[in-house]
Amino acid sequence: MHIEKLPRFLLAQLPTPIEKLARLSRELDGPELLIKRDDQTGLALGGNKTRKLEFLVGDALAQGADTLVTAGAAQSNHCRQTAAAAAKAGLQCELILNGTKPDLPNGNLLLNHLFGATEHWIDRPQRAAKLRELPEQLRAHSHKPYVIGVGGSNGVGATGYVVAMIELMEQLHVSGQRVDHILFGTSSGGTQAGIELGARITGFNGKLHGLSIDKNEPEHLEYENEVAQIANECAAYIGSALRLTEAEINVVYGYMGEGYAVVGALEREAIRLMARSEGIVLDPVYAGRAFGALLDLIRKGVFKRSETVLFWHTGGTPALFAHARELL
Ligand SMILES: Cc1ncc(COP(=O)(O)O)c(C=O)c1O
Repeated sequence: MHIEKLPRFLLAQLPTPIEKLARLSRELDGPELLIKRDDQTGLALGGNKTRKLEFLVGDALAQGADTLVTAGAAQSNHCRQTAAAAAKAGLQCELILNGTKPDLPNGNLLLNHLFGATEHWIDRPQRAAKLRELPEQLRAHSHKPYVIGVGGSNGVGATGYVVAMIELMEQLHVSGQRVDHILFGTSSGGTQAGIELGARITGFNGKLHGLSIDKNEPEHLEYENEVAQIANECAAYIGSALRLTEAEINVVYGYMGEGYAVVGALEREAIRLMARSEGIVLDPVYAGRAFGALLDLIRKGVFKRSETVLFWHTGGTPALFAHARELL
């Protein structure tokens, strides 16, 4: 392995803390609960994308790029963090966003604006074509674009979560804590790919659970296959001989509610409970939905009371403010 030799542009405040959710564990009469605070990665109000972007921006700079191009939902945390990373690295940032620009951009959109990113609003079906055309147009104007796929989920980006898993294992080693289960939201797959690969590299012997926030269970492990492919691309990038198959990737479905970013009772309860018991903020799209899924699994008795469960908070905080009406 040669992670330390890979191009990396430092953006994150690491290690992120691990906290005990003591009041919540008592209230739920469930397993011991811990939280890994990747909402505190430091860049532009934090989140999981900071870790991926350290390696993606490192690669962009190594290739002599002058512009980052990426795409996402209107309230994409990935786009917001890419805009901030571009600002810090002195790069231009072009964002392709789904839908039409709202009259009053708030949450992540307000931040994109403050970071000086250029937005291109597009209907979702045209997104892939725009992601091909825009870099061509930039090249025609003598720019050197570096294209980051949706969510920064490729082998380079996932490296950030291999490093995160190594960081977590070191923290647990120092504190002498045992963790039986790790749960986190999963969507474009890069976070899970890095955690899965990192778990095998470090010899983590608990169970990983990716909580799907935007998919119903596919028929043929299609999403698991995507995660395994990103993990294998990452293994090749970091020089590890390990390879994963889709059968080894554990994704939990059934928590999509009314759809992506549609706030329901599950998210509302999870956000309130975490806020009122622990003073920690979750967003409704990712961490709130994922934590709602975790609460449901606790109530279904999936974990033993003697076990320790770590919830990996992946950030997303600014999106909360775009959903004020649904949360009051
Ligand atoms: C806050 C937050 N949590 C979790 C995820 C899921 O991570 P991934 O796309 O790497 O699966 C995202 C992705 O956009 C996110 O913004």
